[in-house]
Amino acid sequence: MEKRLLTLAAVLFAMVAVVPEEVSAKRWLVGKMGWTTQVNYTLWAQDLHFYNGDWLFFVYDRNQMNVLEVNKTDYESCNADHPLKNWTRGAGRDVVPLNVTRDYYFVSGRGFCFGGMKLALRVENLPPPVQNASPVIKTTDHAPSTILCRRPGVRPAVFAIGALWDCIIGLVFD
Ligand SMILES: *[C@@H]1O[C@H](CO)[C@@H](O)[C@H](O)[C@H]1NC(C)=O
Ligand SMILES: *[C@@H]1O[C@H](CO)[C@@H](O)[C@H](O)[C@H]1NC(C)=O
Ligand SMILES: *[C@@H]1O[C@H](CO)[C@@H](O)[C@H](O)[C@H]1NC(C)=O
Ligand SMILES: *[C@@H]1O[C@H](CO)[C@@H](O)[C@H](O)[C@H]1NC(C)=O
Repeated sequence: MEKRLLTLAAVLFAMVAVVPEEVSAKRWLVGKMGWTTQVNYTLWAQDLHFYNGDWLFFVYDRNQMNVLEVNKTDYESCNADHPLKNWTRGAGRDVVPLNVTRDYYFVSGRGFCFGGMKLALRVENLPPPVQNASPVIKTTDHAPSTILCRRPGVRPAVFAIGALWDCIIGLVFD
């Protein structure tokens, strides 16, 4: 029984260790109160890390504001006359993929940029996986599934979540 609990712990730990890579893409709701006036978006963004593959989610009053991507010069001067890209879709809820590792600049047109509706951020590459993740993942290859979890009717599993799940269910309900 103790062996099984240890195995269960190992399997769960291995699964947790594998997960971050899949859920790392993040959708950022821009600003604590959305995309609006009276917010300093420099302060909002300064301690955050944006990674390639993340999204920005702008939520705002569609009758007033919009979402325009501009270059650095136009960001600094609040010039909305020639945006690089107009992300405004009309519902006041726009999703912007951050799929290039570079600096991004956004403003709202119609004068709102001058009131602070301007956002600059740097998109970074995902950091490499944590050092101690690989040994943990390796143990999944051999230990739990093929050796300790071999039961009649359960084929030796090869690193498949489905098989791991069978294994866990087997361990818990045996
Ligand atoms: C927003 O905060 C930054 C960082 O503290 C500051 O440099 C900037 O002047 C602020 N902007 C406004 C419009 O207050
Ligand atoms: C931004 O675009 C404007 C107008 O097209 C241009 O004059 C300016 O040099 C550009 N700035 C940068 C940093 O590319
Ligand atoms: C941006 O696109 C929206 C929707 O297509 C359009 O209504 C709006 O006029 C455009 N704004 C600018 C500044 O190009
Ligand atoms: C990034 O996303 C935009 C908008 O969906 C798309 O047009 C562009 O091709 C993408 N770029 C890359 C490098 O994937």
